[in-house]
Amino acid sequence: MKKILAIALVLGMAFTSVFANGAKDGSSKGVKVGVSMPTKDLQRWNQDGANMKAELEKAGYDVDLQYANNDIATQVSQIENMITGNCGVLVIAAIDGSALKNTLDGARKKNIPVIAYDRLIMNSKAVTYYATFDNYKVGTIQGDYLVDKLNLKNRSKDDPAYIEFFTGSPDDNNINFFFGGAMDVLKPYLDSGVLVCRSGQTSKAQCATLNWSTEEAQKRMENLITSNGYGPRGTKLDAVYSSNDSCAMGITNALIAAGYTKANFPLITGQDCDIVSVKNMIAGTQAMSVAKDTRVLARKVAGMVEAIMTGTKPEINDTKTYDNGTGVIPSYLCVPEYADIDNYKALLIDTGYYTADQLK
Ligand code: BGC
Repeated sequence: MKKILAIALVLGMAFTSVFANGAKDGSSKGVKVGVSMPTKDLQRWNQDGANMKAELEKAGYDVDLQYANNDIATQVSQIENMITGNCGVLVIAAIDGSALKNTLDGARKKNIPVIAYDRLIMNSKAVTYYATFDNYKVGTIQGDYLVDKLNLKNRSKDDPAYIEFFTGSPDDNNINFFFGGAMDVLKPYLDSGVLVCRSGQTSKAQCATLNWSTEEAQKRMENLITSNGYGPRGTKLDAVYSSNDSCAMGITNALIAAGYTKANFPLITGQDCDIVSVKNMIAGTQAMSVAKDTRVLARKVAGMVEAIMTGTKPEINDTKTYDNGTGVIPSYLCVPEYADIDNYKALLIDTGYYTADQLK
């Protein structure tokens, strides 16, 4: 009963907003959708923004697409402008998932539905739906890969594998799932001594990388190399767990500078299949990545916008995982896929995600 009431409320809010903000007949005509993206610095958000704009325009919406340069105050002011500028729906990939509550109270007052895009927006009742990838699965794909390639199931603590850990921005709720998923797989091996992290830095806080910055990851890897003596002729390092490609890039730079080559490179994980990382996979420096087809995510989010506008129910496939502190947000989770040198062509080129030339 509660659920029915909640859905009725959401649909009611959506209609009020549509009529408040442009459309006369529940159609997309004249309705503006605000799309707020965190930064142009990382490849994926450029793709996400472009895909969202294309999908929404194809469906007849006007789109106000903004990038916030990874600056929270900029994102807040861009969203405020979207609210006062009569956007009918907001689609937001937050820089800091916990920094938008007050701003979104303004959207709530005007009955503007908010879709959290890829990253959950925390502690805000304004969030109507959430669309992302199965973030926990991203983490377990990465963890399973390391178990397999480091042969952890058949090793003993007399012959352990050595690893260091990197995850992403501490203000991004996704790292709880990426890092958490990977650690759920790897912790038993750390506990039994079959896997060893010499620095001892295995907590999420110790492994976090603000803004998922390549430079920050590089600096921390350089420090780990110096303090532990890692090197092709130094202390053994078999793998570096990285939650995504922008961090993997910094780690790779530091390892190359320390003298590692394709012949002895530690296994590095990643996520996103950024062009640079796929090139590194081809060159033999990054071992794997996780492919997340952002075209599919954009299509699902455009479908959510359309459902809101037409007062129908969008496609939801998860109603228990993502609690933003105000309750569970109905979500659609797209499927992430394992990617490495053996399947990248089928995954990325044959599907038209990249052209072969882009990866040369
Ligand atoms: C996304 C990842 C991305 C990271 C850095 C995360 O929230 O889910 O795909 O690598 O942000 O942009």
